[in-house]
Amino acid sequence: MTIGILSAMHEEIHLISSKISDRQITTIGNRDYISGTLEGQKVVAGFSRWGKVAASQTATTLITKFNADKIIFTGVAGAIATELQIGDVVISKDLVQHDMDASAIPAFKKFEVPLLGITHFIADSDLIRLALDAAHNYLSLIRSQNIEHSALDEYNIHSPNVHFGTIASGDQFIADHAKIKELRHAINGLLCIEMEGAAVAQVCHEHQIPFVVIRAISDKADSNAIHDFPNFVKNIVSHYSYGIIRAVLKNL
Ligand code: ADE
Repeated sequence: MTIGILSAMHEEIHLISSKISDRQITTIGNRDYISGTLEGQKVVAGFSRWGKVAASQTATTLITKFNADKIIFTGVAGAIATELQIGDVVISKDLVQHDMDASAIPAFKKFEVPLLGITHFIADSDLIRLALDAAHNYLSLIRSQNIEHSALDEYNIHSPNVHFGTIASGDQFIADHAKIKELRHAINGLLCIEMEGAAVAQVCHEHQIPFVVIRAISDKADSNAIHDFPNFVKNIVSHYSYGIIRAVLKNL
């Protein structure tokens, strides 16, 4: 079994990639894929870069060239639900493309991917269970993890929570309160937004590959996001991603 691990940013994946043993690096379509062994599992890690097209290309390569049997996407997201705080973790129940709208044609609902007839792509229940366990364990020991306390203090991260629910993706970095309100209204139970997960979910759906998305909240998608996001990515996310992914792999 090969597990594909995917992130949109170097900072989200580099610590994971650096821990892979018997490493082999393969370059395809402008991306490096690191294959080898991590926590006793055969893995291949890909750094997709930002956005739905980039993530789809990378996920497709993981499946078709590296025969990934399961895919785990890890990275950061902006909070939409008011109960989420920076430093919390969201595990995907399902994913929706918030910028997909062919509803001007009456045959299609808003957010429905035409000809698939799907608005929400459902994550795999076994991977969800493993991700929830791993995230709970990681966050319960947040102050003993390998993260500078000054970085955690900057965001007031003391006892962060794990959430399970809907994630929306679109080709937009959101830092705007009006857009947050619009998305809250449009998508029932929406927890957070990012720019890749639902595209990977669609690719996995079409190839019948189980997947889960694990996102640490880096910002609240408001005007502070342009400051919060880069700092969280620089100082914190690599530890969250590696800490949670290694526990998922151990228990697979
Ligand atoms: N990923 C992390 N924060 C985000 C935001 N505010 N908008 C889109 N993607 C994000």
